[in-house]
Amino acid sequence: MELSTLIVSFFCFCSLITSGALGSAHHHHSRGHPTKLFVFGDSYADTGNVRKALANSWKAPYGITFPGKPAGRFSDGRVLTDYVAKSLGLKTPVAYAWRDAGVKKLRYGMNFAFGGSGVFDTLADLLPNMTTQIDFFENLFNESVYTKWDVQSSVVLVTLSGNDYAAYLEKGGTIQGLQGFIPRVVNQLALNLRRISEFGPRKIVVAALQPLGCLPRMTQLTSFQQCNDTENTAVQFHNLLLRQAVAGLNNETRRNHIFVLDLYDSFTTVLDRKNDTKGKLKFESPLKPCCVGTCAGCSCGSVDAKGTKLYTVCSDPKSSFFWDSSHPTQAGWRAVYTNLKSTLEQFF
Ligand SMILES: *[C@@H]1O[C@H](CO)[C@@H](O)[C@H](O)[C@H]1NC(C)=O
Ligand SMILES: *[C@@H]1O[C@H](CO)[C@@H](O)[C@H](O)[C@H]1NC(C)=O
Ligand SMILES: *[C@@H]1O[C@H](CO)[C@@H](O)[C@H](O)[C@H]1NC(C)=O
Ligand SMILES: *[C@@H]1O[C@H](CO)[C@@H](O)[C@H](O)[C@H]1NC(C)=O
Ligand SMILES: *[C@@H]1O[C@H](CO)[C@@H](O)[C@H](O)[C@H]1NC(C)=O
Repeated sequence: MELSTLIVSFFCFCSLITSGALGSAHHHHSRGHPTKLFVFGDSYADTGNVRKALANSWKAPYGITFPGKPAGRFSDGRVLTDYVAKSLGLKTPVAYAWRDAGVKKLRYGMNFAFGGSGVFDTLADLLPNMTTQIDFFENLFNESVYTKWDVQSSVVLVTLSGNDYAAYLEKGGTIQGLQGFIPRVVNQLALNLRRISEFGPRKIVVAALQPLGCLPRMTQLTSFQQCNDTENTAVQFHNLLLRQAVAGLNNETRRNHIFVLDLYDSFTTVLDRKNDTKGKLKFESPLKPCCVGTCAGCSCGSVDAKGTKLYTVCSDPKSSFFWDSSHPTQAGWRAVYTNLKSTLEQFF
């Protein structure tokens, strides 16, 4: 199996760490609007960090809705980072890989998320784990590309969407063994959140795990009819531990500055809404992805040696919730975000 297929089909549970700027009252500037967004995580947040040779996100038909061509997002268009930035009144922060594009590009913050990554190593040296992503940030901070003030007036978004679990199962781990592995993943995530918190951002938004058992890569076994409850039960355990860890961190620092973005609830709400008539938030067959590979081992974006497409794309991505085997469409993200918007804005 080619590498790009591997990343897109197995490492698509993306993690999103949304950390927000800290709102501590003793920083006089903290009352103003956040001025920057820093992002750590995986494909649910990546806006172009993974190298072109490694990922389908740089191949057609990715990006057909926005920006109109493949640009490194794992969707037909905008992803969670874009919606969070917008709600803060900011432009989408530049991807770390494109940081040399000019000083002006740095002003909205930076996105260090790499599709396919986790808190632990998923694809060895090819994808920086979250610790390394935070090192990249620390380097720029040490080099005074960003100042203490910049960080104190920023929000951080963190996504962690399941690549650690996919890698664990790929390496022969069992679903039973997952019960022991989940606490290790959450503990490492909590360490990362603590480290990010020590830089002093105003708020940190961390994504809960979405219902992995409802991703097309799982539901294809039932012709996209049914979610896998075994997987979703494991996801709920992860989310429970994450909530406890975040409550502990918030209590310890006495600043209620870390917020869990409930992607589980939000995905489930949208996926269950198929019969309600709320126009734009309704998806006809919500578990069925828009773009699918047409041979064993093919995925959205695959081509053969002659360049012939080995995938099909639906006629209207706006009518699909899922884009490929693991990622929402732009319309899907928009619906998910619409559900979360008011609680998130209250938190900011
Ligand atoms: C993250 O990657 C670095 C560099 O490869 C490695 O040294 C470190 O052990 C990794 N951290 C974790 C938590 O896996
Ligand atoms: C940044 O500077 C601190 C203090 O000098 C140092 O401990 C740390 O290792 C530096 N970080 C990186 C990623 O080089
Ligand atoms: C659900 O997922 C588990 C773990 O990946 C798997 O063992 C099981 O066969 C799946 N069940 C169904 C009905 O697909
Ligand atoms: C919060 O921290 C205090 C002191 O560190 C501790 O006594 C208390 O039990 C903690 N509360 C919770 C809900 O963790
Ligand atoms: C939802 O709509 C479908 C098709 O219109 C119908 O078959 C199904 O029974 C409906 N489900 C509910 C819960 O109303």
